[in-house]
Amino acid sequence: MTDTINKIDTAFLFIFGVSFAIMILITLVAIYFLYKYHHTKHPEAAQIEGNLIAELTWTIIPSIIVIAMFWFGWTGYKALRDAPADSMLVDVTARMWSWKFTYPNGKTSSELYVPANTPVKLNMTSVDVIHSFYVPAYRVKMDTVPGMQTYVWFDTGEPETYEILCAEYCGVRHSFMLSKVIVLPQEEYDAWISTEEKPVEQPEAITILENNGCLDCHSIDGTELVGPTLKDIYNRETVIVTADGEKTVKADEAYLIKAINDPSSEIVKNYEDMMPPFAEDLSKEDLGKLIEFFKTGMPAEKPGEKGAVIAENEGCTGCHSTDGSELVGPSFKNMMDRDVIAIKDGKKIQLKADSRYIISSIVSPGEYIVDGYDESMPPYDYLEDEQIMALIEYFNTLKD
Ligand code: CUA
Repeated sequence: MTDTINKIDTAFLFIFGVSFAIMILITLVAIYFLYKYHHTKHPEAAQIEGNLIAELTWTIIPSIIVIAMFWFGWTGYKALRDAPADSMLVDVTARMWSWKFTYPNGKTSSELYVPANTPVKLNMTSVDVIHSFYVPAYRVKMDTVPGMQTYVWFDTGEPETYEILCAEYCGVRHSFMLSKVIVLPQEEYDAWISTEEKPVEQPEAITILENNGCLDCHSIDGTELVGPTLKDIYNRETVIVTADGEKTVKADEAYLIKAINDPSSEIVKNYEDMMPPFAEDLSKEDLGKLIEFFKTGMPAEKPGEKGAVIAENEGCTGCHSTDGSELVGPSFKNMMDRDVIAIKDGKKIQLKADSRYIISSIVSPGEYIVDGYDESMPPYDYLEDEQIMALIEYFNTLKD
């Protein structure tokens, strides 16, 4: 635990402890007085004129308490604000709904990588609305404000991974504006910072999309988020709403460039005008790479990938594990074609979990209940046939 964390916690515990003790004291005294000065015992209130000891007591003791609270609060605040001069500097850009970290050598990432036992100072700003950079583990929380620079600093401590949250409501995906502080041993950090970007084998365009926060609102797998999916976007027939009404266009190169540089000019029907313009943020070169990617580079889908997303989005995995562990419902692992004892109309029957059976238990789960489980699953009869088939395909990939 670093010195700053100690100071913050001391201030918190002191103020909380004193407040709690006073609450208990006042409650007990109030109860005692109710009894002692009840009108049956004390029919007439006495008029008391001045009491030097009582007056000194209720002036001096609270003054000392308040000064002590101020002292702990002030030293904690000072520790939070006074970044050591040798702090490592990282720039932070907040946007709906992601964090971008820029290191002294120009490298960027969407998660914050830092070396262990090093003071780090983050100079922060936002490109759209007010967000708040919050790392509970380091006891730091600071608003990021468009057009203004704010900062936090902390001592990174031992190698560990901590949560970063956004603590200022910033729109529909505020609660997804999460990231991590990854504290690495010095050597590992040095290796990380000196490697070129995109260490993972993924198309460069995906790194560009990630770094600019595009993927927080646009999926590349067909899932609908806040904005239209980028999957198969090139030359897609798109209905847009302009000042003169609706029209259908083809999402060709010119359209896509305009939609990225100046998104407010034409809004795709049923979506909101919320995307910031990227004309200044995105280099011509990166823009070209994105367009090229939309044209040709969409990654081929892995089998079962779509179904996995549906299982996640529909909440299936809240009750059914994918690794064989037992949750509320049977695991999806090795579920296909296994022998099942089910209960139908009060009678036990044995059957095989083939795709017909699985489809029926998705659409009307009440019909057969697997022995040993409760009838608690809601019917998923609103799923499209295509989605159900995607789920079946996914389940088949979970067979050993
Ligand atoms: Cu950003 Cu909440």
